[in-house]
Amino acid sequence: MEFQFDFLVIGSGIAGLSFALKASSVGTVAIVTKKDKLETSTNYAQGGIASAIGKDDSFENHINDTLAAGDGLCKKEIVEMVVRSAPERLLELVEWGVEFNRRGDGPLDFDLGREGGHSKNRIVHAKDMTGRAIESALISAAEKNPRIRIFENHFALDLLIEYEGTKVGSYVTSQKKVCKGALIFEKETAEVHSFFAHATVLCTGGAGKVYLYTSNPDVATGDGLAMAFRAGAKLANLEFVQFHPTCLFHPKAKNFLISEAVRGEGGKLVDSKGRPFMHKYHPLGDLACRDVVARAIDTEMKNSGDDCVFLDITHKSRSFLQERFPHIYEKCLSLGIDMAKDPIPVVPAAHYMCGGILTDKWARSSIDNLYAIGECACTGLHGANRLASNSLLEAVVFSHQAYLDVKRNIESWRKDSFPEVPLSATPYYRSSTQKEQSEMVFIAHNWDVIRKIMWNYVGIVRRDKRLSLAKNHLVQIRQEINEHMPNIPLNTDAMELKNLAIVADLIIRCAIARKESRGLHYNVDHPKRDDEHWKHNTILSLDNEWEFK
Ligand code: SIN
Repeated sequence: MEFQFDFLVIGSGIAGLSFALKASSVGTVAIVTKKDKLETSTNYAQGGIASAIGKDDSFENHINDTLAAGDGLCKKEIVEMVVRSAPERLLELVEWGVEFNRRGDGPLDFDLGREGGHSKNRIVHAKDMTGRAIESALISAAEKNPRIRIFENHFALDLLIEYEGTKVGSYVTSQKKVCKGALIFEKETAEVHSFFAHATVLCTGGAGKVYLYTSNPDVATGDGLAMAFRAGAKLANLEFVQFHPTCLFHPKAKNFLISEAVRGEGGKLVDSKGRPFMHKYHPLGDLACRDVVARAIDTEMKNSGDDCVFLDITHKSRSFLQERFPHIYEKCLSLGIDMAKDPIPVVPAAHYMCGGILTDKWARSSIDNLYAIGECACTGLHGANRLASNSLLEAVVFSHQAYLDVKRNIESWRKDSFPEVPLSATPYYRSSTQKEQSEMVFIAHNWDVIRKIMWNYVGIVRRDKRLSLAKNHLVQIRQEINEHMPNIPLNTDAMELKNLAIVADLIIRCAIARKESRGLHYNVDHPKRDDEHWKHNTILSLDNEWEFK
């Protein structure tokens, strides 16, 4: 089938929903999401939204903390824009129905928590389920909006790109790419549809599933990054993978985060003998930035041979813990851990991609009419390491920026027609007579192999030799996938595997390129930050050579 909308949004987290709610004032919107509409990283976000609204705080403090965390790679003008627009964006979320914890009745009288790397209390939150509060409010606002249509269980396969050449005489002197929508796979019917749109907005989140251990939900397979790469968009800084220091360590606790806000309330990291250790690594101790804390835990675990460290918040009363962290309290208790009495076993796990699809201040990618917002984008806000609770903030700020841009352009875009896309010319066409030729076992096998390679060779602490081993493995895996893929029926596991393999390969290539240690990228063979040669982004694309700027 063929669908036409003004705007196609891929992903139903905070970025996609907030863009859709705004853009619906100037056009029709399709939101396409590969699973249930609530199954997004946003829904699992515990921490909150950073905003310098406390009496003792200032925009300058928040800007400086963000720049310090970013370790020399943030774009200052972007950081300033994001920080300064935070209060306005927060008020919009409240208007859409999000209920944050409050201290008073004034519009910005929110309760403010603390997280690592922040010099002041500035985390606006809804207990320890901020993402859930945001997701449910925005979904219900979107469902009431007649100009927004949500397509669940629809998987985006590839972007539809039109090439527009500039002719001088009979020569095409340059070609620009324009995104006209995407090919979408409907899981229930196994049909592929063309979704045409004047602007396509990737809000597909991160790629935590590329690692064996992650705080991310299963949907985080880097689909947007891989699609944008295949279409020729520029991607940047993929070596900067943030490992959250404290994920619950328990055989039955898949992907469960223990929010940094627990350390913000005085929780201490201790070893198996109950000895605190963070003071050995950084003057800010337990409230140092995530890169420092995750590396410290990694070192402690390697030195002791223990499987985990512990987060001790037993100095707080049971009633306080139940009120401030109801979700974490209940989850721990269900696994036999009483956080009012027992230190919580924790380990670091892949949490957030600081790099992504390179975008400008209006969330525009390097392909015309293609936008990227949220974790899949690289805006310049996070640099080499994201400051806690700056990510939901980035998503709402850039969805506003993208909205302003599409509003300016939609009338002129409507004059353009959509291209013809014969499905039989795409790699997703399977003729009815085609027999299955390949076994499916390579899918599950390679999923596991990629995640182990990335964890063991491209993890918190890296080495040249391990990175080069990882690269060789990925070349082989990608070859295997390309060989077998055309011979199996279309299915989302296979597509996710293809995307994961691309993203893993790109992370490795960026990590190999950066011959220094900075922010989240720590390589023991190049242990120092090297501003003279490496104070720039690692930008790559299908068509271009590397760009370092
Ligand atoms: C957390 O609650 O620790 C996660 C918040 C974030 O990733 O910014």
